[in-house]
Amino acid sequence: MDSFIIEGPSTIEGEVRVSGSKNSSLPILFATVLTDEECIIEDVPDLSDIKTTYDLLSYCGKSCFFGFNRFEVRESKKIITEAPYDLVRKMRASVLIAGPMLSRFKHAKFSLPGGCAIGVRPIDIHLDGFKKLGAEVNLDSGYVILKAKKLKPAVINLRFQSVGATENLMMAASLIEGITIIKNAAKEPEISDLSSVLNKMGASVEGAGTELIRIKGVKKLSGFKHKVIPDRIEAGTFLILAAACAKKLAVKNAFAGHLGILIDKLKKSGAKIDISDESIMVSKAKKIKPVNIKTQVYPGYPTDLQAQWMAYMCLSSGRSIIEENIFENRFMHVGEFIRMGASISIKHNSAYVNGVNKLIGATVMASDLRAGAGLIIAAALANGSTKIRRIYHIDRGYEKIEQKLLSLGLKIKRVEE
Ligand code: EPZ
Repeated sequence: MDSFIIEGPSTIEGEVRVSGSKNSSLPILFATVLTDEECIIEDVPDLSDIKTTYDLLSYCGKSCFFGFNRFEVRESKKIITEAPYDLVRKMRASVLIAGPMLSRFKHAKFSLPGGCAIGVRPIDIHLDGFKKLGAEVNLDSGYVILKAKKLKPAVINLRFQSVGATENLMMAASLIEGITIIKNAAKEPEISDLSSVLNKMGASVEGAGTELIRIKGVKKLSGFKHKVIPDRIEAGTFLILAAACAKKLAVKNAFAGHLGILIDKLKKSGAKIDISDESIMVSKAKKIKPVNIKTQVYPGYPTDLQAQWMAYMCLSSGRSIIEENIFENRFMHVGEFIRMGASISIKHNSAYVNGVNKLIGATVMASDLRAGAGLIIAAALANGSTKIRRIYHIDRGYEKIEQKLLSLGLKIKRVEE
């Protein structure tokens, strides 16, 4: 397993281009299962999650090409409507193949995705939605088996604004003739990006980005060509890193409109931010002011930027409170920050961060993709050398991360263990 060695404290400057969105690419790649026609997706980031998706689509019979951030999908063989355990366990988002598979083939068998470091992460909202559409849902030795004689449009009211369930049900409904309504839908930008793909394929999806999505499904969907939106979480990660230690950083290919609440919080913390058409410019705060956050569904503060914010607040001039409302166990990074000299306590779903004068480099371990990103920020701020272990988590969501950071002047190197 690889590790990163980072020497701090660092000052970074220059410009960085944000890659295409991982969390938009994944559902769009699974939407290719809805059609037998050619699909071209561009600006797909070169990440291990994309490789896993490539392997899963290929296993099911699609012929895939991925190079230079361009993903091509064609169909030449009979499709296997099964997603095996050893692929699904690597990536929970594999569950997004279920909706397209069920709706096109009236059958889908997929391994129940396991939990992960940040929580149990059940898929009950997905399965309840499939039942409303007329599917029979069975569990057998760790696999979910969906089947249906005929699927029918429905009104589905989600008990929680689940991103994945909204995406899965939008895709399934697109190939069911008639009008399906999803109430209490998730509003993330990735949902809107998927919606524009489904409309290109011939469905008629309205209301994506709001809590009420109306899908007019059709009998057959066509292929498509699409360029995914920029990765707002990668962009946010660089904005927080820059607020912590940049002389001046230009973050390019980032939609400020997707990052409103983060930009407000960064300004409150003392960072200098200028937004132009080409980039978001950030310079570090002279003194980091403590600012509280509460993670919420979009457009609230993203849970995927919680660990990064915590790293930044470790050196603030006071106490900040970080409330995690989306996942039940997303504080695994707290113990790692404490190993670096941070002063943090946890009560229920809130972390209380008392700013300290300095962090000290140490050996730490990434527990999930975003915790790993938080550790990079902490290491950039710390005095001395930090070794971050299990960086395979980071490789899942940050394309060419060390090249990007090296180009900004961060002293980082990847070592094999
Ligand atoms: C998506 O996960 C993202 N992943 C996550 O990003 C992100 O953290 C999450 O949305 C929240 O924004 C992708 O888009 C591939 P949810 P998803 O369904 O769809 C509970 C990253 O770092 N829930 O909105 O799995 C669930 O347990 C990843 O890129 C149910 O209880 O998130 C969680 O507590 C991490 N039953 C909450 O809802 C269900 O059927 C949010 O889950 C579904 C979800």
